[in-house]
Amino acid sequence: MTPDIRPLVAGNWKMNGTRASLDQIKAIAEGVKTDLSEKVETLICPPATLLYVATALCDDSPLAIGAQDCHQAQSGAHTGEISADMIADCFGTYVIVGHSERRTDNAETDHLVRAKAEAAYEAGLTAIICIGETADERKGGQTLDILKRQIAGSVPDSANSENTVIAYEPVWAIGTGLTPTVADIAEAHAFMRDDITKRFGPAGHTMRLLYGGSVKPSNAAELMAIANVDGALIGGASLKAEDFLSIFGAYKTLLD
Ligand code: 13P
Repeated sequence: MTPDIRPLVAGNWKMNGTRASLDQIKAIAEGVKTDLSEKVETLICPPATLLYVATALCDDSPLAIGAQDCHQAQSGAHTGEISADMIADCFGTYVIVGHSERRTDNAETDHLVRAKAEAAYEAGLTAIICIGETADERKGGQTLDILKRQIAGSVPDSANSENTVIAYEPVWAIGTGLTPTVADIAEAHAFMRDDITKRFGPAGHTMRLLYGGSVKPSNAAELMAIANVDGALIGGASLKAEDFLSIFGAYKTLLD
């Protein structure tokens, strides 16, 4: 946690979820209607097919809805793509960009991720920019260098604490049940804080830094308590309302 930063608990559903899964979004939207939502923000990023219906379900809930990617252009001949404006038009307020699965599957570069984040800002969305090292990079002792390079390349100069969240997701921790040690996460997040503060000045102090990679109910309290970890980006455990709400609930004791 960081003093004066409102944490964000975010779920990335990836390519999971059909209309039947809207019951889970309904349950999460209901479950976050507690006093804790004044102190902790919540977000689910379902697949684009569910975006519009999902936002309608959250009309009277503090739960925000976002998308998992956007194109860098505002509109045009880009078959199969979704623009940031379209996400805003569906009442989405966040978009994830540069997730490692897209960097790998779609060969997305830092340069492209930066352009996507800029498109998100143009549309009034908050970009969640993902960074993180692979297993080989970690073994080679390159973790902090990779984070530095990805922040420099993927985060636009116009980033601020309103329009940008940075998510540290070690690639080898995603979907594997493995997590870095508390000391390793603390080191990475302190490094990121220092790096963005040098570049963005005071905005760097209040920009949210999420941890993602095998966050689950059993480790949430420990991980969310780490200095400079301002919330979670959750994959698998965000698909079930019970698990997502349990991770959100971990903040009850942390914020007491
Ligand atoms: P898991 O929580 O399933 O490891 O996924 C993390 C992730 O990639 C979130 O974006």
